[in-house]
Amino acid sequence: MTQTEHSIDTPPRAPSPDHRFGTLAVHAGSPHDPVTGAVIEPISLSTTFAQSAVGKPVGQYEYTRSSNPNRDNFEKAVAALEHARYSLAFSSGSATTAIILQSLASGSHVVSVSDVYGGTHRYFTKVAAAHGVHVTFSPSIELDIENLIRPNETKLIWIETPSNPTLSLVDIRAVATIAHRHGILVVVDNTFLSPYVQNPLDHGADFVVHSVTKYINGHSDVLMGVAAFNSDALFERLSFLQNAIGAVPGAFDCWLAHRGLKTLHLRAREATTNATAVATMLEKSPEVIAVNYPGLASHPQHYITLKQHRNGMGGGMLSFRIKGGKEAAERFCTHTKIFTLAESLGGVESLVEVPASMTHMGIPKDQREAAGVFDDLVRVSCGIEDGADLVSDIQQALKKTIGGVASNGFSNGA
Ligand SMILES: Cc1ncc(COP(=O)(O)O)c(C=O)c1O
Repeated sequence: MTQTEHSIDTPPRAPSPDHRFGTLAVHAGSPHDPVTGAVIEPISLSTTFAQSAVGKPVGQYEYTRSSNPNRDNFEKAVAALEHARYSLAFSSGSATTAIILQSLASGSHVVSVSDVYGGTHRYFTKVAAAHGVHVTFSPSIELDIENLIRPNETKLIWIETPSNPTLSLVDIRAVATIAHRHGILVVVDNTFLSPYVQNPLDHGADFVVHSVTKYINGHSDVLMGVAAFNSDALFERLSFLQNAIGAVPGAFDCWLAHRGLKTLHLRAREATTNATAVATMLEKSPEVIAVNYPGLASHPQHYITLKQHRNGMGGGMLSFRIKGGKEAAERFCTHTKIFTLAESLGGVESLVEVPASMTHMGIPKDQREAAGVFDDLVRVSCGIEDGADLVSDIQQALKKTIGGVASNGFSNGA
């Protein structure tokens, strides 16, 4: 078959929102309670909803796995912020990934960027294959995509931009244009930036996914995921799987995540300001080998930041290579006083971690290093504390670390 016989159109767009991001974050999916007038939605914990006659529910709900008011409201809010017609919430970011992969027929092929979240890599390599879906990884998807597409087999392209943890970027429009010519759908994991900084559907993606656990909830107290898209057919398929598989979030988690979402724009702006200050300082530090931050003019793909991110914002995440190897990276993370050594990201509090020994440990070393995830790489999630305090915390930790590591990489006990 020719390419044109395969080709798909970019799905119809959601109508342009009447309001700007902050107004939508606060008001989308937030109706006043029609009975009490409560301005903040009640938490609807009931698992089942009364029916006035068989098959005639009193309201629009029957059973909470299929839908419930808090999940509906949260989904409406995310759809508005991602410029999507639909959004569906799941019990975690990983469940969202799993359900999208489950929606593919056995024998399907997926092309993914190499530098994906470790759990996504684990699902692609250890779970998807068990139901006949095979994934090829590419370190430079814009260049490789045309060659990696298998006619009639490749159904999905998976992009993480910025990638985790090396913060490399993908030009979504460039990849989507080629993918759509072959009738292939494009997914973008937008967890690292949040809908405030980047809206992948506006650049041609067919789905955008998030680990809500990160910026959307923003307070490190909810595990949840979401997918947003425009196509009616995708809605039919994925909402069927949402109910059939049942990997859904509880009403209380939806309520909490929706509350977090209302301040996303404020948090994302502050986190970007802080990350910019930290990255700028790191770039000048003699203890540092290299800094990965899309907001820096020195980032090799800064032109994509300017094209794809709101106001050229770099987001709250960065990573850097510290002198002194793995030991220095691990020591650095124990010397910070404001940054907590912990996995995860995107909360109000700042975190640090060493991906090679923590979040990305499951990826074989040669593959990890080919993607730039060296043992001395430190990942930083900037929260919304005062930027000056974050900068001095990192400076004092760098001094303590390098002061305590001899040039051979071994601790001198300082
Ligand atoms: C980029 C990215 N995608 C997906 C996930 C998975 O999300 P969850 O932990 O909510 O399952 C994570 C988790 O860290 C992530 O960083």
